[in-house]
Amino acid sequence: MSNNIHPFFWGTATSAFQIEGSVRADGRGPSIWDVFCAQPGRTHNGDTGEPACDHVRRYRDDVALMRTLGVNAYRFSTSWSRVLPTGRGAVNASGVGFYDRLVDALLDAGVTPWLTLYHWDLPAALQDDLGGWENPDTARYFADYAQLMFNRLGDRVRYWITINEPWVVVDAGYFTGVHAPGVCDRTRGYRVGHQLLRAHGLAVAAFRARGADAGAISLALNSSFSFPATDSPQDEAAGERALLDFAGWFGDPIWFGDYPQALRAAYGDLLPEFTAEDRRLLTRSIDYLAINYYTSDVVRHANNHNALHYDRQPFPSRPLTATNWPIVPEGLHRLLVWLHRRYGELPLYITENGVALPDRVNSNGAVHDPDRIAYLRDHFAAARQAMADGVDLRGYFVWSLMDNLEWACGYAKRFGLVHCDFRTQQRIIKDSGRWYAEWIARGGWNQTAADAVLAPGAIGGR
Ligand code: FCB
Repeated sequence: MSNNIHPFFWGTATSAFQIEGSVRADGRGPSIWDVFCAQPGRTHNGDTGEPACDHVRRYRDDVALMRTLGVNAYRFSTSWSRVLPTGRGAVNASGVGFYDRLVDALLDAGVTPWLTLYHWDLPAALQDDLGGWENPDTARYFADYAQLMFNRLGDRVRYWITINEPWVVVDAGYFTGVHAPGVCDRTRGYRVGHQLLRAHGLAVAAFRARGADAGAISLALNSSFSFPATDSPQDEAAGERALLDFAGWFGDPIWFGDYPQALRAAYGDLLPEFTAEDRRLLTRSIDYLAINYYTSDVVRHANNHNALHYDRQPFPSRPLTATNWPIVPEGLHRLLVWLHRRYGELPLYITENGVALPDRVNSNGAVHDPDRIAYLRDHFAAARQAMADGVDLRGYFVWSLMDNLEWACGYAKRFGLVHCDFRTQQRIIKDSGRWYAEWIARGGWNQTAADAVLAPGAIGGR
């Protein structure tokens, strides 16, 4: 259960490329996402990282918004190519300066910064010159960049995340090719996943060399929960294999030092070997578990359907979000418990959870999004149940602070608690943002049942 020793973090999350804009300003170098967006047909409507939320120029207003919401934590990422325009070598002082000012503004507002070092925006020069993450040298350059950020911001930033969702980096970037760099090649994908893990291990070693009071570091996993299609032992076992293939693919290496045995047996040479040194660096290389959760699926045993003999289908008969993800709050409960059982007593943080909906600004200038309130309410309740089952949950970051560039979906998919008009850059706090503010103001988990912001319909429209 939550305890009084650790504050519970109620936060919001964003990432650099999705909100910053100013992609060519102040010496920033291009990332693989700038390159990808410029290729015809890659993103919805040809949308690019400009203007996004123009956050580099408006960060003070955005921190003020956080203050209005009352969040006590903010998860953001730094853009590697804003700091090191070619990924290595010369430092861009104005890039570091921006993050320096952002961190100070957050601290002034009483908001604890949670910094992600890599949220998918690899410097384009590393892709072009070295072959990106496929090249083991990129992991070394990542560790150098991490070290630089620890040196510059480590006196004020205590919570770090090395890499966001390596599963998506590989799956979308290298299996299906719908994300940068747009490759469709499983062999290359598994190699990339392997180097992302090595990069994490090297960065954590640099972090821990700073001493025990440097703070805490992790890697943000993402996973659905796989509900077995039936209670037959075959489907139950298939569900477990599907979880190992998702959460376990990157979760096992950063805790146990190697891929799950089931994956090694199924994938053979596709999964590279870790050296003894890699394993040493990876074992117990996280101080807490960070998990991003959006949806769940149903899995049945299916001989030879894939190497692990399971078939994964979207969870049936549930409302779909604007990104077509079935809404399955109980999957969050089950996933948290699964992670807790597999990786032991680590503190756990939900570093992303939220929903895209077809929001609309009405004639009164308000955004009524009762479905987002319901989504959050039901997922909070599921997280609470996991805590009752012994999960040491210590924070919850809603994705996202404001509508932003949803990768290949462009600006069409809105996840924000705050509506963003990308033409005028006007921000409007949605009903869900007000609801979240009220939830926090009433004490989050600590409010009494009578306060009941959790109850359906507790907040009406205006
Ligand atoms: C996650 C990403 C985040 C955002 C949400 C909707 O996979 O980490 O940047 O796109 O999905």
